[in-house]
Amino acid sequence: MSTSLFGLRRAAFALACSSALVLSAHALSPATPEPRPTQALLVRGDHLELNGKPFVPVSGELHYARIPREDWRARLKMARAMGLNTIATYVFWNVHEPEAGKFNFSGNADLAEFLREAQQEGLYVMLRVGPYSCAEWEFGGFPAWLLRDPKVGLTLRSDDPAFLVPAERWLTRLGKEVGPLQIGRGGPVIAAQVENEYGNFGGDAVYMEKLHQIFLKAGFTDSLLYTANPSRTIAKGSIPGVFATVNFGISHADVGLDALAALRPGAPLFAAEYWPGWFDHWGEPHQTRTVEPQIADIKYILGRGAGVNIYMFHGGTSFGMMAGSSWIGNKFLPDVTSYDYDAPLDEAGRPTAKFFAYRDAIAKATGVTPPPVPPAPASMAVPAFTLNDSVSLWKGLPKPVVSATPKYMEEIGQSYGFILYRKQLTGPTQGELVLNGLNDYALVYLNGRLLGALDRTDKQDRLTIHSDAAAAQLDILVENSGRINSTREIRHESKGLAGVTLAGKPLEDWSIYSLPMAPDSIIDAPGVPVEAHFAAGVKADNAPAFYRGSFTLNAPKGKPVADTFLDIADIGKGVVWLNGHPLGRVWNVGPQRTLYVPGVWMHAGKNEVVVLDLLHRDHAPKLAGLAEPIIDAPTRRSTAAPDENVGLNGKP
Ligand code: GLA
Repeated sequence: MSTSLFGLRRAAFALACSSALVLSAHALSPATPEPRPTQALLVRGDHLELNGKPFVPVSGELHYARIPREDWRARLKMARAMGLNTIATYVFWNVHEPEAGKFNFSGNADLAEFLREAQQEGLYVMLRVGPYSCAEWEFGGFPAWLLRDPKVGLTLRSDDPAFLVPAERWLTRLGKEVGPLQIGRGGPVIAAQVENEYGNFGGDAVYMEKLHQIFLKAGFTDSLLYTANPSRTIAKGSIPGVFATVNFGISHADVGLDALAALRPGAPLFAAEYWPGWFDHWGEPHQTRTVEPQIADIKYILGRGAGVNIYMFHGGTSFGMMAGSSWIGNKFLPDVTSYDYDAPLDEAGRPTAKFFAYRDAIAKATGVTPPPVPPAPASMAVPAFTLNDSVSLWKGLPKPVVSATPKYMEEIGQSYGFILYRKQLTGPTQGELVLNGLNDYALVYLNGRLLGALDRTDKQDRLTIHSDAAAAQLDILVENSGRINSTREIRHESKGLAGVTLAGKPLEDWSIYSLPMAPDSIIDAPGVPVEAHFAAGVKADNAPAFYRGSFTLNAPKGKPVADTFLDIADIGKGVVWLNGHPLGRVWNVGPQRTLYVPGVWMHAGKNEVVVLDLLHRDHAPKLAGLAEPIIDAPTRRSTAAPDENVGLNGKP
């Protein structure tokens, strides 16, 4: 590296620090920032310039939807303390438009507030707008209502108006919300990402250019637009004239940056995703990545004058039912609730050994001393407690939709949760029952007795049924385990059932019960929608059932409560709520054995836990809070599926 580039580099990092201070002061003044047209992030030859001076983003990713709003600021302070000058976040469309045309930017979805807090903490922001995200998030961030019209599902991520019209409506609304927070208008957003890893999905340049134009029309004109793609697909996923960046994993920094340099000779280099860890699937071993080669990579990337975004700096949690699923090697693999990611800052916002190694490496490479590391959030144990109240899921069912054939949940206006298909059979019954279009996990009951579980992961969609009775009730309870969030398979991700045959003949006349459990909720649950069930007052003697119990905290009033990790070893498969907050899905196939419970969702006095458990049990479940998480418990399968991106990012 030449001395002049080195000099430029030092200046670039130093500027990050001082301009962050300027932004801080600015952010404290009026609520609406004044227009400051001289502010911009621009490509200048082989480097980026921020407000006229060389700038290298040293960024880390965290998703506001995966962190309770009350904890945003603490996580941002940790980002600064690791030496980051920038953060990146996706904007999940399904968080903000839970129903077509009804937008939500409040509570945990208050993106503008998250951006303001980042600015107040002296951080710039790279906004990964998409509208496709991936991110192990339900349906890659797409709202499930897109699938209400099956045609839209088939045109996702294409220039078909069936997809682009709703996408444009969303981007236009988002532009209104965050447009004023772009750097050119005095905000922290220095860059906005168009699509995501599109090169992995397709190569339709017309679609990409149309999307680009929609961004401009929506007002994303005061920050730097960019695309992000893995090394091997950058060309396919980039847009002429739009800044291109590259994603890669450990020990691929040279390959990744070389690929980008070949595509855009002489342009600034930026690693839009550098993966310090990885995510977990239910039933597969917990993923970790050692830090040593990462430190060498960081040194290499920054030494080459390239910017970097560590994906994830802090993974957080896919609360509620928002974890997505993978499609790897023709196999459906739902993701666990924890998105710890083996990231530098752990799921509970505590700095790990990896955090300190990164902090040190970044300080060395940039010559900038980061602020001191704030104290880690406290965690506590909660003594074991039993969920003594129970009520069968079959009690308090809502009014059914009556239909000749089974319908997918999207067709009846449902996005998440469970769906029950009930049919009265007459006469002795014998034959193979086949569930068509089962995209997840189903439990089949005859006269209330469980016949078996069918799991898409294991390619199961049928079982034999037999009944001599003159009449029998067939119940098929289907879980939406999380829509696939990447690959072309997302175009077929309707949930529930498309049809059922018995001994080769279609079964007709169904009652369909929609059981979304938490209609609009990601984190801001309106309460657990099970009161109707408990009101029925019948104690459950078997699963599927809701179980309710509580624990009491003696914390002094007004004092923050520490985090805990709920040990759910005693639960089969289902969902857990705490004080109305949907903590997430659980399943006894490992590797996740505890659920993260943010202290901000608990209080002094009584705290209520509700569990929906689908699987058989003969006793009331017993839970406890642990002071440390267990996300690496033994699993059903002993080997993990290969990284989705290995084929795309591995060395040629
Ligand atoms: C890709 C995607 C991300 C995420 C990672 C894996 O790089 O762009 O959204 O899915 O893979 O964690």
